Formats: sequence, structure tokens, C-alpha cells
Amino acid sequence: MPLPNTDMAPPPHVPTELVVDFDFYRPEGAEVDPFLALKRLHDKPEVFWTPRNGGHWVATRGEDIREILTDHETFSSRHVFVPATPDRPPSVPLEIDPPDHEKYRRLIMPAFSPPAVAAWADEARALAVSLIEGFHERGECEFMADFAQQLPMIIFLRMAGLPLEHREMLVSWVSAGVRPGDSERREANRANLAGYIKDLIAARRADPSGDDIISHVFRTGVDGRPLNDDEAWGVCYTLLGGGLDTVASSMGWVALFLARNPDHRRQLLQNPGLIPRAIDELLRRFSIPTIARVVRRDMSYKGAPLKAGEQILMPACLQALDERVFDDPLTVDFQRTDARMHCTFSQGVHRCPGSTLALREIRVFLDAWLARIPDFEVKPGEAVRTSGGISLGVLSLPLVWTP
Ligand code: HEM
Repeated sequence: MPLPNTDMAPPPHVPTELVVDFDFYRPEGAEVDPFLALKRLHDKPEVFWTPRNGGHWVATRGEDIREILTDHETFSSRHVFVPATPDRPPSVPLEIDPPDHEKYRRLIMPAFSPPAVAAWADEARALAVSLIEGFHERGECEFMADFAQQLPMIIFLRMAGLPLEHREMLVSWVSAGVRPGDSERREANRANLAGYIKDLIAARRADPSGDDIISHVFRTGVDGRPLNDDEAWGVCYTLLGGGLDTVASSMGWVALFLARNPDHRRQLLQNPGLIPRAIDELLRRFSIPTIARVVRRDMSYKGAPLKAGEQILMPACLQALDERVFDDPLTVDFQRTDARMHCTFSQGVHRCPGSTLALREIRVFLDAWLARIPDFEVKPGEAVRTSGGISLGVLSLPLVWTP
């Protein structure tokens, strides 16, 4: 059996003119700007085949990405990560198709209702202020390690009833699991996370009395019975994968943009009421996820001969940065009225339930930060490092300001 990331020769049904050598973990130029690196795919066919990462299709047009995400009858969620990992149970509810999807999703939704999220807001605000006050006088910080990988992670660990001392370890496993690096290392990190989850399941089965989201899921169960081991594993894997890296990456892109664009920063300082729209627009302009679907039946789609069982990958930024969907998509415009039409949180039945929490945390960050550090920039002479992968990330972001 080939290693999961092995490159494959295109199968015979794929026409040569639809083959493009594209590795979504390492698009050319991703270390400087992964969004522009991916946007170049708009020059390629609407749907093309790449032999990389096990071989898969890629959808490059905004309209098609939205359609594929919503059409679960034609495109299954059984394997949303490329390459597929048939030896692992599905992530739940992420890799479960309707009709079963709904019963699993119902299990986790109470944790993400607006009142549940609002209940965490005070704690998030206090935490944001204490983190910023911890480094404010220094006049500099490494934004990712000192802030972005703290605030959302700590809130998530508290929601999940996990020890805060596990933060660094979990963050390193999750972020290495979604970024480039050699595939064996990526798999080793995912395996570490999988092992951690097994222990977590044993602990929660022994005592499901806590008020955290995982205990709630274990107490509730499905179809009138407790979750079996695969289901329990799948729920925990989705929650940890979804909750531990995504908000930090998005905060990194927001902070990087504002550090480089004082005019936009000034707009928010002069009119804080604009912040919610600015967040929508920045989540559109910096749309981080790349997810896949599995083709359910042989078909021709936009001229591509798709076969049942093949994966089709969708970098969400190809929808957000498509001129056919948004006017002047590379420009950040806080007055844009259709910014929310992005697919950053996906579309259809799997649309991210954590989006309310994510938006709230980014709002908390901007309110607390701009009130204390209105002027900041990238530290002169120091490199900002970014990367491709399942979630487009800022790896390091050195910021400076006058205390
Ligand atoms: C900016 C931050 C976030 C982004 C960009 C994001 C993105 C996404 C995307 C694209 C999907 C759907 C994937 C698909 O259609 O296959 C998704 C699903 C999901 N996300 Fe998020 N997410 C974010 C934050 C969070 C947070 C903070 C949590 C939890 C604490 C979370 C939990 C989930 C769960 C449980 C699902 C599965 C939903 C389902 O399958 O019905 N997400 N997210």
C-alpha cells in the first residue's frame, strides 16, 4: 500500500490537458503569500487533476466550489482531507453524510448556540486583556505564540474540560497535522492526537459528569444508546481539529493585514462599529480552509470525467478571491456589502457550527488589542512566515509598537 502522500501517475481516464502538477501543501510562493499562490489556479482549467498527495481533482472556480459544497447528493463528505485515510474512522459529524449527519450534529450544537458562546465572552475578554497587558510594555511580541495560539485555544480547552497544560502539546500536534513538512511527520502528529483522544475517551467514559462539551456528548449519545468507540473518537477528533488551529490562523491573517495597513486600522479606531463588517471582509479576503469531497458516481463535471470514489479538493480562497463572484476581490473593503458570501466556514449541511464562537473571539481580540495597541507594525527586518495546507497559516508574526 502506498504511503498516504505518495504521488500517483494520472489514471487512464484523465485527459492529459487536465493534468496540472499542484501540491496544495506547497503551492509555489506559499511561504510569502499562500492566497496569491493559490489564486494562480484561476488560470488553470475549471476542474483539473493533480498527481500529488495520492492524486485528486481540484475545483478552481468560486461558483463550482459553492455548488460542490452544498450538493451532498453528488459529493460525499466521507473523506474531507486529502489524501483519504480509509483506515481511520470518520470524523463526526464532519465526514458523515445526511441523513445520519443530522443526529450527530445535533449532539454538539448546544455548545455553539449564541447564549452558550455569549457565556464564554467575558472570560475571553478578560483573557485577551491579560495576555496583551503581559507583553504591552515590551513593545513587541511574536503574535502567533504570544496571543493567537493562546486566546482561542484556552477558551476551547475550557469548553472541552481539558487541562490548560496540554495546550502547547495539542497545538503542536494539530498545526503540524494540517501543514506541510514531510508526510511521515504529519502522520506521526495526527497519530499522537489520535492516541490522546483514545485516553480522553476512556477518561470521559469513566466519568461523564462534567459540564464540558465532551461529557455532554457522552451523556447524550445517539439513537438512545451511548456512542461507540469510533463515534466517540470521531466527535473528539473533529472538535479538537476544528477548535485548536482555525481561529488562531485567522487571527494571524487579521493581525498581519492591520499591521501592514494603517489606513484600515484607522478606520476601525475611528469607527469601532465597523469592526463586525471588517471581520467578515477579512475572513473573506483571507479564507483559510482547503477541504475535499468524494465523488459519488461517475459523471462529467465542467468537462472533467470524474469517477466514483475520487476526491475533489476545494481551496475556499478560490471562491473568495474569484472576480466572477466578488468585485475586485483582492482589495480589502470594509464597506463591501456581500463579504459574508464567502465559503470560509463552508456551505450546506456541514457549515461550521463554531463560526459564532470564532467571530466572537476575533471581535474580542480586535476590541482589546486596538484599545491598547492602536499602532503596530511588522518588526522591521524580521520575516513573516506563512504556509499552505489544510488551513493556510501564519507561522510567525513578529509585531512591534511604541509602549
Ligand atoms: C475561523 C475559524 C474557523 C474556520 C475557518 C472553520 C472552518 C470550517 C469549515 C470549512 C468546516 C466545514 C468543512 C466541510 O464542509 O467539510 C467546518 C466544520 C466544523 N467546524 Fe469549524 N471553523 C472554524 C472554527 C471552528 C471552531 C472554533 C470550532 C469548535 C470549537 C469548529 C468546529 C467545527 C465542527 C464541529 C465542524 C463540523 C460540522 C459538521 O460537519 O456539521 N470550527 N469548520
